[in-house]
Amino acid sequence: MMEFGSRFRVTLFGTSHGPQVGAIIEGVPRGASIDLPRIQAELDRRRPIGRRLATRRRESDRLIVDEGIVGGAASGRRIRIHVANEDARSGPYEELRGTPRPGHADYPASVRFGTSVDLSGGGIFSGRMTVGLVAAGAIARDLIEPKGIEVLSFTRSIGGIDDALVPDESFAQLRARRDANEVGAIDPTQAAAMAKRIEEVRRDGDSVGGTIEGRAVGLPVGLGEPFFDSVESEIAHLMFSIPAVKAIEFGAGFQVARLHGSENNDPFYWDEDGVVSTRTNHAGGILGGLSTGRPLIFRLAIKPTASIPRPQETVDLIRRTSATIVVKGRHDPCIVPRAVAVVEAGTAIVLADLCLRAGLLP
Ligand SMILES: Cc1cc2nc3c(=O)[nH]c(=O)nc-3n(C[C@H](O)[C@H](O)[C@H](O)COP(=O)(O)O)c2cc1C
Repeated sequence: MMEFGSRFRVTLFGTSHGPQVGAIIEGVPRGASIDLPRIQAELDRRRPIGRRLATRRRESDRLIVDEGIVGGAASGRRIRIHVANEDARSGPYEELRGTPRPGHADYPASVRFGTSVDLSGGGIFSGRMTVGLVAAGAIARDLIEPKGIEVLSFTRSIGGIDDALVPDESFAQLRARRDANEVGAIDPTQAAAMAKRIEEVRRDGDSVGGTIEGRAVGLPVGLGEPFFDSVESEIAHLMFSIPAVKAIEFGAGFQVARLHGSENNDPFYWDEDGVVSTRTNHAGGILGGLSTGRPLIFRLAIKPTASIPRPQETVDLIRRTSATIVVKGRHDPCIVPRAVAVVEAGTAIVLADLCLRAGLLP
């Protein structure tokens, strides 16, 4: 299943080392204005180039619109966009054939699809597939922003270094802080410590994980579809599709297990504009699967990159022996900084879909 969404439908296509990767997006209303330079800017944020701490794969990721956007607006038919894969080097993956990388998708994928499955560069299990998600997310933002809905994500922690003190500022201000450092965190001192940690693990031939926080404001009260397509279910569904995401929590998340009802409940009050608000937001902006109108807040745990240049124990599926592998090829020592743009895009996709389903978009 390479398809997500009910009314705003995204289908990803391509593979890591095939000719191209991209997305088909259906459900964008005719005449909706599409900001092409913004799609390119979002693709650039996901790109490794210029990032000292990322993979050395050199991709220009130049956006190509195949169909569905005319003169900066949606034609009302399906939109197809892609970027070319320009720097695929399959050599290191040929050496790995039959010896699955611990922590990567190789083993279950070769049992399910056979050892001849295209796992070059990770095949469809590669982080490169998120190019299509980021492009589709930029289009989703073009739909929801005119309705006053804004999305934001940022690095919350890397390797245990936590950026816990997020100032109470506008998304524009937080975004400016985030974009001023190479790990996508808000606080510059913590960001520098995170970058140092990544550099250390890279030198050590290892990798490190972390957490990303996603937020959205301006959601109309009651957004979300009861029962199975709640805001939580839809966000979690999309986020778990992002490779390397292993956990998600909303609002107070796992902490709720330790709280009393008197501590966890978010008391309601009338704010200065006469709108119902809550004193706290342990619910992360969701009650009963529906938005409360308070900020949507969630955090994701991203695992340490599986492909590390250290000897690791594995099996040879063809000779049926034990084996040791050292993963070559170009890999991110930490996926978190590059996944920030993907999480933001994914949030926009879910919200655009839920808004269309609720009849809030034309
Ligand atoms: C933006 C991005 C970049 C990634 N880069 C790498 C990488 O360089 N090396 C690697 O082993 N995994 C990388 N991954 C993660 C793998 O694709 C993922 O761990 C693998 O498909 C197994 O899936 P799972 O971790 O969700 O179980 C990346 C993921 C994302 C989102």
